[in-house]
Amino acid sequence: EFRENTVIVVLGASGDLAKKKTFPALFGLYRQGFLPNGVHIVGYARTKMDETEFHKRVVSHISNSADDQDLTSKVEEFKALSTYVAGDYEDDKAFQLLNTRLEEIESKYGSKERNRLFYMALPPSVFLPVAKGLKKNCYTTEGVVRVIVEKPFGKDTDSCRELVKGLKEQFSEEETFRIDHYLGKEMVKNMLVSRFANVALSTGFDKNSISNVQITFKEPFGTEGRGGYFDEFGIIRDVCQNHLIQVLSILTMERPVSFSAEDIRDEKVKVLRSIPPVERADTLLGQYVSANGKPGYLEDDTVPKNSKCPTFAALTLWVNTPRWEGVPFILKAGKALNEAKVEVRIQYKDVTQGIFKDIARNELVMRIQPSEAIYLKFNAKTPGLYSRAIPVEMDLTYKRRFADSKIPEAYEALILDALHGDKSNFVRDDELEAAWKIFTPILHWIEGKSGQAPRPVPYPYGSRGPKELEAFITKYGYKRANAEYSWPVTNVA
Ligand code: BG6
Repeated sequence: EFRENTVIVVLGASGDLAKKKTFPALFGLYRQGFLPNGVHIVGYARTKMDETEFHKRVVSHISNSADDQDLTSKVEEFKALSTYVAGDYEDDKAFQLLNTRLEEIESKYGSKERNRLFYMALPPSVFLPVAKGLKKNCYTTEGVVRVIVEKPFGKDTDSCRELVKGLKEQFSEEETFRIDHYLGKEMVKNMLVSRFANVALSTGFDKNSISNVQITFKEPFGTEGRGGYFDEFGIIRDVCQNHLIQVLSILTMERPVSFSAEDIRDEKVKVLRSIPPVERADTLLGQYVSANGKPGYLEDDTVPKNSKCPTFAALTLWVNTPRWEGVPFILKAGKALNEAKVEVRIQYKDVTQGIFKDIARNELVMRIQPSEAIYLKFNAKTPGLYSRAIPVEMDLTYKRRFADSKIPEAYEALILDALHGDKSNFVRDDELEAAWKIFTPILHWIEGKSGQAPRPVPYPYGSRGPKELEAFITKYGYKRANAEYSWPVTNVA
């Protein structure tokens, strides 16, 4: 269902997230005609600024080349439907002013129906006060109220429970949309279809055929400027407990009864609950140090001296279901590495030896970004008068196969889902709890809450990660192909 008479309120409108992600996504949707007719957007934050300044921020991350007439006029229209209210996060009076503004907008509807979508792009410390303020002062029963919340959803199982409970006192589960933007990424959404719409893929998608799986997140930049925030969280909370575990759950869940939100999330929760907490022995932690003129993590002024916060982690998880028993799932995530890449790499077992020797393993790779692709490393006969096999790739590269399709931004897809009330790609409360339970014990260990905190191993800024990584993944059965094999990235651009 798609409702007119909707106001979208962005709380935290002057912050980074709103500027970089929320407003550009809202604009993208608007431009493509995906926002409800007559929609209004109201920004709310503490910063005092006038409308002009607000509009400047709203459009600052929209690529606005002056020669694109259509874009320029859309930007102007978008500004015209966006307005700003400044106010505190813990002040009923300020929220009442916001409400007055909303009512002014709504008084022009010509119908009693009024729908409000609150988008909380806020630091965790004000989640609860803002939720309270909104419920008390800006709630309406004349339509649908929905609240989008952003991570971090707590720091461990207990604090997450507390936060979830606190929010539930204000807004029902039905009204709450917890964003994990990885669920809005095209390839992550495609994983569900690829897995369950292909007999060729679903057969052999288990411990009998698969040796090991790696889910990798690599970023080529450090925590520059964000060190203060990052140090409190670390790479495991920043990326593994949310984005990568979401990918893992979609990859390993059983077939849902339907594609309805609850059926999908039931299966995700089930598989998450089958994963025991990560063991210390199954972890490799790293922290980047300066190299090639780039500063090390500890050289960031906002980072506490001597911090043991990991900026890299490799963690092996075990999924105790009949399908996956014994298959290691290695989550790898790191900042300040040699490249930007997020992918799932499924390595199959060795083919029965005898007629072959040292032949490369099959690998199915789902590249989430950049440049979405699925490819299968496959052994073929070397053409010609040879009797050698050569690893080749069967390749679905989106830019080639779907050259005319525009791949939406994750936030566009998710905000649209929230407007439609579709929860399939939002995180349910029990899912969150199950995910935290997997990581809480090692997080406490890393923070020194259960004995001496481990010191992460150093790796140079811009490298592939700690030198110990190769041995780590080999320990879990990953085999590098003997034959020189390289994915022809140059063809993709
Ligand atoms: C965020 C993390 O959730 O995801 C960031 O806090 C990270 O540290 C970002 O950079 C990555 O998102 P994307 O969409 O750029 O892969």
